[in-house]
Amino acid sequence: MRTLRLTVNGRAVSAVVEPRVHLADFLRESQLLTGTHLGCEHGVCGACTLLIDGAPARSCITYAIACEGAEITTIEGLDDDDVTGELRAAFSREHGLQCGYCTPGMLVSARDIVIRLPDADERRVRLELSGNLCRCTGYVGIVRAVCAVLDERRRTVTPEPARHRPLGPVGSGHALPIGPGEIAGVTTVAPSSGVKSADESTGQTTGTAVAPTRPGTVLRQSFIVDHPRERVFAFFGRLDEVVACMPGAALTEAPRDGHVRGRLRIKLGPIAADFAGEANVERDPTSHRGVIRGQGRDSRTSSTAIGEVSYVLVEESSGAATRVDIEIGYALRGALAQFSRAGIVNDLAERLTAAFAQNVEARLGSADAWNAATAPSELDAGSLILSVIRTRIRRFFARLLGR
Ligand code: FES
Ligand code: FES
Repeated sequence: MRTLRLTVNGRAVSAVVEPRVHLADFLRESQLLTGTHLGCEHGVCGACTLLIDGAPARSCITYAIACEGAEITTIEGLDDDDVTGELRAAFSREHGLQCGYCTPGMLVSARDIVIRLPDADERRVRLELSGNLCRCTGYVGIVRAVCAVLDERRRTVTPEPARHRPLGPVGSGHALPIGPGEIAGVTTVAPSSGVKSADESTGQTTGTAVAPTRPGTVLRQSFIVDHPRERVFAFFGRLDEVVACMPGAALTEAPRDGHVRGRLRIKLGPIAADFAGEANVERDPTSHRGVIRGQGRDSRTSSTAIGEVSYVLVEESSGAATRVDIEIGYALRGALAQFSRAGIVNDLAERLTAAFAQNVEARLGSADAWNAATAPSELDAGSLILSVIRTRIRRFFARLLGR
C-alpha cells in the first residue's frame, strides 16, 4: 500500500492505495467521483478521459500512484467551467448524446479542442475527437456541437495569443517507481550474481559509469534459436548486431569497453517518444550469462526510464539449439509512466521478444533471411496494442462459444 497525495477538483486528497489501482477506479471507488466512466479499460475508447495537470489523459491506463503531486480535474470539477458550460448546452441543442456514457470523456476532449485549437474546422474536430468513441450518435451531433461552440467563441471572445500545444502523454512527473512485487503478475529482478564485467574478463578498463538502476517491474521471456550456445553467446557480445535486432533501437556511438550509447524510438498512437540513453554491458562466458544496465530520457515528454536486461543461455536439443531466458526489469517515471498496465505490457513484451528472436535467428542465419527480417526503425507500440486487443477479443469469443 502507498500513501498518495494529490489534488482532485481543487481539493487536497491524501489516501492509502494499492499500487495496482488505476486512477479511474481510485476516483470512482474511493472519491465517489463516478462521472469518470470506464469502457474498454485499455486506453482505446476515451470514456475515462480527464485532466491531469490540465491536459487530457486516459485514467484507465494511469496508475493512481503515478499521479503523486498532480492536479486532477474530472467532469465534476468542470461544473463551473465556462467552456464546458457552453459545450453542455451545445450538446443538448445538437443532440450530441443519447445514452450519455461517452459524454464526460467527450466533453473533456471537446473542451481541450476549444481551448487549444480555436481555429479548428470540422475536419480537425473529427480528427481530434477520434480518440473518443460513441456507440450511439454517429458523431454528427457531437461534431456539430463542438463546431458551434468554436464558431460562437470566434465571434464573441477576443482571441488569446496562440496556445498551440501538441497533445502528448501527461502525468505529474513526481511518481515514484513501482516497488518490488507491487503489481500483480510482475516481480523484481534478483540482483545479478556471478556476472563479471566484459572488461574484467579481458583485463581492460571499464567504460563510463552509469547510475545504479532500480527496476521495479520485471518481465520474463524465453525463446529458442537453432544455433549452438557458443555461437549465440559470441553473437550477444557483438552489441551493434544485437541492437539491430531490437525494434526501434539504434546505437548512436560505436560500443566502447562494454559501454554503449543509443536511442529507442517508440510510437504509441499520436505519442512519439525518442529515448536517448546509455548502458553498461557485463558478460560471463563461464555461465553464459550477461546483463545490460542502462537508463534513458525522452526530452519531449520528460519521461525517464531505467532498466536492466539479463539473459542466460541454456543448451537445448543436445547442444544443437539454445534457449535464451531473458529478464527485463524497468521503471518509468514521468509522463509515459501512464503506459504501465501489467497485462498489456506483458503481452507487448511477448510480441517484442518474438520479433527480437526472429531477428536474432535471421542474423545468425543467411544474409537473405536477415535482409527479409530487418528490424523497423521505430517501435509502433500502438499497432502492437491493437493486435493485443484483437487477440484478447478473439480469445473472449472463443471462450464464450466453448471453442
Ligand atoms: S476506459 Fe476506454 S480509454 Fe479508458
Ligand atoms: S451517447 Fe451513448 S456512447 Fe455516446
